[in-house]
Amino acid sequence: MSNSINSHVFIEQTAELLKSAKRVAILTGAGVSKESGIPTFRDAQTGLWANYRPEDLATPQGFLQNPDLVWQWYDSRRKKLLEVSPNAGHYAMAELAQFVPELTVITQNVDGLHQQAGSKEVLELHGSITAFRCFAKGHPANTDNIDFGLTSPPKCHCGSPYRPGVVWFGESLPGDVLSKAQKLAQSADVFIVAGTSGIVHPAASLPFVAKEAGATVIEINPEPTPITDTADIFLQGPSGQIWPKIIGLLKS
Ligand code: OAD
Repeated sequence: MSNSINSHVFIEQTAELLKSAKRVAILTGAGVSKESGIPTFRDAQTGLWANYRPEDLATPQGFLQNPDLVWQWYDSRRKKLLEVSPNAGHYAMAELAQFVPELTVITQNVDGLHQQAGSKEVLELHGSITAFRCFAKGHPANTDNIDFGLTSPPKCHCGSPYRPGVVWFGESLPGDVLSKAQKLAQSADVFIVAGTSGIVHPAASLPFVAKEAGATVIEINPEPTPITDTADIFLQGPSGQIWPKIIGLLKS
């Protein structure tokens, strides 16, 4: 059963479920960082892909074809992160750890804002924009040595250019991280999905895995998604407004 009415009742119901939950997992996407000023991927005018083709910027082939363009694009996104902060949604998700025995945030975001807000258990399914490794061998870079504003990727000691430590289209997710996320989906009693369009797999399949395994699935999003019909509760609205209300009820 899904509900598209964002009423207090559903938020109360969510808080009650969380009060008795033992293991909670939250899957997040770009929507939870939107209120921090970071555009989502698929917003028609302002989305991160608005002026480019994703295959030019976020694939190994794109990097081989034009490493400077890809480097500069990720450099500008990394630089932008210096100007933004976690929003009320990130802080509330971090605070939830005080109210449930076990909480893990599984994120598709590469911006590190969950950790900045104080979340301790964070699985980064799509890597991190502040980590680097070389393209050929995957040697990790010392991030302190990577300056902002370089027009070309710096080189590893093996001669291969460094690339951002994110997952690109056509690449596999880090196996250990994905398998932890899948185990959590199978064992969580409450699984909350927030701010994701639910169309990029395998992340998008996690709520379905959780539901199949018996979890109560709750979705937070201003718009319905392919997950909405499967969700037990749909809290329609922005993450930065809904999450603090849930925490407010847990405190009361
Ligand atoms: P999308 O841009 O696909 O979707 C963002 C979702 O956030 C949409 O469903 C919006 O309705 C919702 N949204 C917008 N504002 C919101 C708010 N204030 N609060 C809550 N939700 C809000 O972003 P993702 O689902 O994260 O992958 O995209 C998934 C993956 O696709 C990304 O990790 C990236 C991209 O290609 C890679 O780069 C591998």
